[in-house]
Amino acid sequence: MTDKRMLTGDRPTGKLHLGHYVGSLANRVKLQDTYNCYFIIADLHMLTTKPSRGDIENISSNAREMVLDYLACGIDPAKSVIYLQSAVHEVYEMNLFFEMLVTVPRLQRVPSLKEMAKSANLNEMPLGLLGYPVLQAADILMPRAHLVPVGKDNEAHVELTREIARRFNSMYGEVFPIPEVLVGEVPTLVGTDGNAKMSKSLGNAIYLSDDAKTVEKKVKGMYTDPNRIRADIPGTVEGNPVFIYHDVFNPDKAEVDDLKDRYRNGKVGDVEVKDKLTKAINSFLDPIRERREGYASKSGYVDEVIFSGTRKMQEEARQTLLEMKKAMGLTGAWNKISRKAEKFRKKQQ
Ligand code: TRP
Repeated sequence: MTDKRMLTGDRPTGKLHLGHYVGSLANRVKLQDTYNCYFIIADLHMLTTKPSRGDIENISSNAREMVLDYLACGIDPAKSVIYLQSAVHEVYEMNLFFEMLVTVPRLQRVPSLKEMAKSANLNEMPLGLLGYPVLQAADILMPRAHLVPVGKDNEAHVELTREIARRFNSMYGEVFPIPEVLVGEVPTLVGTDGNAKMSKSLGNAIYLSDDAKTVEKKVKGMYTDPNRIRADIPGTVEGNPVFIYHDVFNPDKAEVDDLKDRYRNGKVGDVEVKDKLTKAINSFLDPIRERREGYASKSGYVDEVIFSGTRKMQEEARQTLLEMKKAMGLTGAWNKISRKAEKFRKKQQ
């Protein structure tokens, strides 16, 4: 085991889907033997677009579902620190220091933020949402992570983190490593409706926790080549969501090649293509479902995983923040004032 660290995570908005898996989860599972892993349940980030009481009330159950998905995919809680962001107070402080090192125009150029504002129906940009990547930089640099496996939409945030880390180091001394980004094999997975991105809010997702029947129904309803109104019409494979999923989730490459061949020549019905895809996705999900059930049946287990991870992170955060403040010379100001005040009090007696 090296002392290299990786950090990543998700906002607790509910269950994870296939897009999360290929975009980032698969990488996380693969890397957990080479890195010390930190997984953040980013509930403060969730507040940037969902600050209502109702959303806040759902954090604990959403976090539980999400962590169940992590564990089901093979993330080993014995090797990883899985923690709740809002319970690590140092991150609020670090965020503030980092806000001094970034300009507003720089943040306004981050493309994902405009999209997030739009999909949350916000006409104007909240200050907190503009600061989303700054807070994310605090998450990443808190355990001094070297690697950040994320989906494509988060790439620009890690770039900003690198800028902040460099800036801090050059102003105050070498405290932070410059983290690398790692984007998954399928950076953005199309949705079942053919929309460029699988996403909960678009309602075009297949969840890791969907049962076999649900997967079958979703695959049956999938968008394919719209010009192919009959099975004997030659169809287009490229960019066709059904075949994109086959490429990603069907390990039987010979079967996929044969289906593509026949599809291009108008020699296969959509029903067969989709049936085979349903089988492939279901056998991919079966072991995940089984592990999920196992963990879910132990009441309180997931909460204990999050609790002990958060305790570890709190201790680590305390150390990083202290070092950071020392580097900045910020501990000095308070120390000088306290010492003088103490002398003054003694004289008064
Ligand atoms: N921005 C991530 C998302 O899209 C969540 C997140 C918050 C995150 N802090 C992070 C990801 C730090 C990686 C590293 O949900």
